[in-house]
Amino acid sequence: MTDKNRLRIAVQKKGRLSNESIKLLKAIGVKLSIRDRLLIAHSTNLPIDLLLVRDDDIPGLVMDGIADLGFIGENELEEKMLERQAAGEPAEYKTLKRLEYGGCRLSIAVPNEFNYQGLESLQNTKIATTYPYLLKRFLNENNINAQPVMLTGSVEVAPRAGIAEAICDLVSTGATLEANGLEEATEIFVSKAVLIQQAKELSQEKQELINTLIPRINGVMQAKE
Ligand code: PRP
Ligand code: ZN
Ligand code: MG
Repeated sequence: MTDKNRLRIAVQKKGRLSNESIKLLKAIGVKLSIRDRLLIAHSTNLPIDLLLVRDDDIPGLVMDGIADLGFIGENELEEKMLERQAAGEPAEYKTLKRLEYGGCRLSIAVPNEFNYQGLESLQNTKIATTYPYLLKRFLNENNINAQPVMLTGSVEVAPRAGIAEAICDLVSTGATLEANGLEEATEIFVSKAVLIQQAKELSQEKQELINTLIPRINGVMQAKE
């Protein structure tokens, strides 16, 4: 059960931002009892509920005012914003804080045997990706006529499967690219985790609670420097 007077924070359930986001909340004094397979976790000492969801859903939950705050990668946030703008849907939010974790880049990569000579080599190719809007923006800005092919997973196998000549996916250590015989061609977006808030004004109680949490986040981040 949730209570609309409790601050709702959307956090990735499982994945690259999940542990660090929950660690940060704990470090700023939010006591949590998280049980596996539950979508909601209640704080035991503050009026806060966590919504544990897929990262792709977090920007929309905040933009629609279902979650008050969300921890999300800038890549997912920017992609959702472009998607919503294209559909004429609400895409407003406020960025409260850029965080020091979740660093990765969205890059175009090609098979090792692809003779990559610069962006022109991508003309008239198909590029498999989970981020079609960010990719399209990059291609348009660089006058490259290539076709994004949307895949929600296993993007890195697309060239071998004959689905596309290149891919556009997140790279962090580069291990996934290497394991799949791919090489980074060009970086198109650099991302870190951010804390966002819904655009609509919140109740005074919720806003005051947020105002006490932000300096604590700053404190934790400074302590790490
Ligand atoms: C991303 C991306 C690659 C991997 C790259 O997936 O899709 O699979 O990370 O990381 P590396 O360079 O360190 O190998 P993610 O873990 O975000 O999960 P998802 O693909 O299921 O969204
Ligand atoms: Zn995702
Ligand atoms: Mg992946």
